[in-house]
Amino acid sequence: MSIKKVMVIGAGQMGGGIAQVCAQAGYEVYLNDLREEFVDRGIETIAKNLSRSVEKGRMTEEEKEAALERIIRSKDLQDAAHADIVIEAAVENMTIKTDIFKKLDQAAPAHAILATNTSSLPITEIAAATERPEQVIGMHFMNPVPVMKLVEIIRGLATTDEVYQAVEEMTLKLNKAPVEVNDFPGFVSNRILMPMINEAIYTLFEGVATKEAIDDVMKMGMNHPMGPLELADFIGLDTCLYIMEILHEGFGDSKYRPCPLLRKYVKAGWLGKKSGRGFYIYE
Ligand code: CAA
Repeated sequence: MSIKKVMVIGAGQMGGGIAQVCAQAGYEVYLNDLREEFVDRGIETIAKNLSRSVEKGRMTEEEKEAALERIIRSKDLQDAAHADIVIEAAVENMTIKTDIFKKLDQAAPAHAILATNTSSLPITEIAAATERPEQVIGMHFMNPVPVMKLVEIIRGLATTDEVYQAVEEMTLKLNKAPVEVNDFPGFVSNRILMPMINEAIYTLFEGVATKEAIDDVMKMGMNHPMGPLELADFIGLDTCLYIMEILHEGFGDSKYRPCPLLRKYVKAGWLGKKSGRGFYIYE
């Protein structure tokens, strides 16, 4: 199974990052979003990231231009007709995702793989919305995509070995490290990361320490690049709450109950870095 053309659904932080690394690795990429200005904004960020790489001497101006030229703007899911693999990075909502997958299943060629960058939704359920569940797989990139090495690869119940191998090979070509995991709530990354973040929020909620102290303990004591509260702001508090709810519902275990302070912040619209305020205030 040879992958040459990629389509990425969603030109936000994750989709844009995925399109960037694919274009840098030589793939032709259709970058799709609902509106043209979303795609334009995504490409602007990619261009900025690539310019920084040129300044740092990691790539030449020509390589940057060639990578940008490999990105094709798309507003229509029908463009999946050109793709060998589609990587969906739209919002974390099962109804929206299954609707996209149904349309992609109709539009994409029979050989195409349909991958999702979901951070916690069941791959098997997304796959069941299509007529090709054996060609559906999870490809979970980490934020910021151009920097983070890991891609968690999640097989649905029906995913074939051939599809897994093709995706693993592509991940290596993107200069990323594939790690195979099974389809369980939160997979491995968020099953471990989110309860840690939620516990840090409880630690703040219960007045054990200030936010700065909590983050300092984890940064200096555990060598984490960001403290858990700073990281929660970076990921988005709405996303953190959403994933905790999936873990709570999926396992039915009270150890995954989201901290009331997290709920309160999300209700207040304090969603972290993207909204200008979360645990910290951003200018
Ligand atoms: N896009 C592209 N490049 C970026 C970037 C972005 N958004 N943010 C930072 N970088 C680059 C910088 O340009 C810089 O590159 P150079 O070395 O070439 O200058 C490099 O990353 C380091 O950046 P900084 O020096 O500005 O800052 P830093 O050393 O503090 O690193 C960080 C920033 C890489 C984000 C680091 O703080 C870090 O690793 N944080 C933890 C991130 C993490 O845990 N991500 C996983 C989140 S969970 C997830 O994604 C899954 C989920 O489902 C929720």
